[in-house]
Amino acid sequence: LIIPHSFPSIDKRDSKDIISLIDESYVGNKSNLNEILIKKINQFVNSDKTYITQSGSQSILIALKNFGIKEGDKVALCSINCPSVINVLRFLNLVPVFYDVRNTCDFRPSQENIEIVLNEHKPKVVIITHCFGVLVEKNIFHFISNNYRCKIIEDYSTSFPSSYSDNSKVGEYSDGVIGSFGSTKPITGGIGGFLSLRKSRFKSSYDCLHREQDIISLNTNISSINQCLILNQFDKIDEIATIKKKIIKFYCKYTSIWKHDCSLFRAITFRSSELVEKTIESYGYKLDTRECLHPYISCTYMSNASRFNKYKSLPLNIKMYNFLNHNNLL
Ligand SMILES: Cc1ncc(COP(=O)(O)O)c(C=O)c1O
Repeated sequence: LIIPHSFPSIDKRDSKDIISLIDESYVGNKSNLNEILIKKINQFVNSDKTYITQSGSQSILIALKNFGIKEGDKVALCSINCPSVINVLRFLNLVPVFYDVRNTCDFRPSQENIEIVLNEHKPKVVIITHCFGVLVEKNIFHFISNNYRCKIIEDYSTSFPSSYSDNSKVGEYSDGVIGSFGSTKPITGGIGGFLSLRKSRFKSSYDCLHREQDIISLNTNISSINQCLILNQFDKIDEIATIKKKIIKFYCKYTSIWKHDCSLFRAITFRSSELVEKTIESYGYKLDTRECLHPYISCTYMSNASRFNKYKSLPLNIKMYNFLNHNNLL
């Protein structure tokens, strides 16, 4: 019996709602659900215009096109990253330049590390990643937007819906915020993403041809099944966060967990996880832990990222919670 690494918080209400959608014989995109979803996202994101998209990668692609990025342009990004982000840049024939993480136990970039890359490479765009539930400080965005001409995209994918301690929104000083509702994310509908843009030359309508040269257009619609799953998750945000915090508290009894007080996404340990794995095994279950070594091997400016050992990511989901609860381990 295996406790999976990632598992969505889907319950009876989700099944019921999805069956009634299927009974309606229409599973296409519903504009009223999109509007509700956008309102929910905008509670966390400072936005002039938010779009629901099919993935975080699609959101990055549209943001880059929206900024008029051309083949060969440089884009700065974090050395610890999701391969999909790098793939979008390769897809558009852009040149990735990497800034380093803060240190081996804090995967966010420092202002200094971003500046090194901005000064040397003068990229057209910098993608700044809020990493695993821990947000990059607002003053860094403020500083970069005041002192550099490059566009700033905030990648909120692994951290949505974490918020700043003063409850201010993400995206105050950037040109766009992107997020993902992909299957391993804190809030998931299986697939999905969002894109919030300050100045938009983009239309997500699928049924007309935009002839104006400066308007880009792409069908980014997701099905009502995904819309429904994502919307229901918004109603469960507090519940999901509480569950994750309880699991992390359990792990902390057996191993040291990185940034445990605010992690909504991954339970990461740089220490041995043998003790916790053995404890779970004594109940006849196995933990699906994932070994990660994130740094993108060929990049420059990653002395911190490349110094770190492999880390382990432990299950942080409803299946794990149910197991712990059932065995009075919480
Ligand atoms: C930091 C980050 N950005 C972007 C993405 C891409 O999102 P998607 O998988 O929805 O394309 C991911 C996905 O894992 C991610 O971790």
